[in-house]
Amino acid sequence: MTVVRRDFELGTLFLGDVLDVLGLVRESSVDLVLTDPPYSSGGSTIETRQRCPVEKYQNTGTKKPYPSFSGDHLDQRSYVNWCVEWGSRSRLLLKSGAVHAQFTDWRQLPATVDAVQRAGLHWRGIVPWDKTETARPTVGGFRAQAEYLVWGSNGPLSRSRGVGCLPGAFREPVRRSDKLHVTGKPTALMVRLVAACPPNGVVADWFAGSGTTAVAAVVTGRRFIGCEVSQEYFEIACKRIHEAEARLA
Ligand SMILES: C[S@@+](CC[C@H](N)C(=O)[O-])C[C@H]1O[C@@H](n2cnc3c(N)ncnc32)[C@H](O)[C@@H]1O
Repeated sequence: MTVVRRDFELGTLFLGDVLDVLGLVRESSVDLVLTDPPYSSGGSTIETRQRCPVEKYQNTGTKKPYPSFSGDHLDQRSYVNWCVEWGSRSRLLLKSGAVHAQFTDWRQLPATVDAVQRAGLHWRGIVPWDKTETARPTVGGFRAQAEYLVWGSNGPLSRSRGVGCLPGAFREPVRRSDKLHVTGKPTALMVRLVAACPPNGVVADWFAGSGTTAVAAVVTGRRFIGCEVSQEYFEIACKRIHEAEARLA
């Protein structure tokens, strides 16, 4: 796939496969990797996990017509290998001591922790994202109310990056009006999370989807770099970034 580049006031978004795009970015140029890869989750059998993401990640009766996306079908061993492959390349682009934070769900949490360490990052912890009581109910059991950020640093964590102590857990609901991707993250959540990047620093999201991380970077005055493999989501992300920059102008 040919990589396409779109430049903005505060950053750059590539349309292309993560493994191609990572080769185009300068080493040690990124202050925070905050990224939301496909989870390859959503079921306890290979058949259920290989369903279309639009089917498996939305409750019956609450379906909104989102575009689907690729790369969400791997078994767990292949998923770890793939995360190690892009994670290792991504680590080289991070500044020394900077943070890598990667979303996952309860099923892929152990696999993601393994992958982050095998990518050469120093694993530092897990930050729960509490989606509130609006999240999918589990009759007879516990509500599937949290997703997780697995975080680490490129070498020992730098304490002199101009980033204070951030919360160890975040509570933010998903709002339909703010959700432009079938697995989109709330903008308010991402705005709080980009605080792990120093002011004026560069935030990278290699799985941009509808561009929420980039929008959060823009509204907080940070720069961004990212990529997205789906043309439809790439266009949605570009539109959102333009609108966010226009609101600042
Ligand atoms: C979980 S979604 C990200 C959603 C995003 N956080 C948001 O708020 O909109 C993951 C995205 O990764 C993209 N993706 C999947 N495989 C990819 C690859 N090999 N390279 C780049 N992007 C990929 C998918 O198209 C999907 O949009």
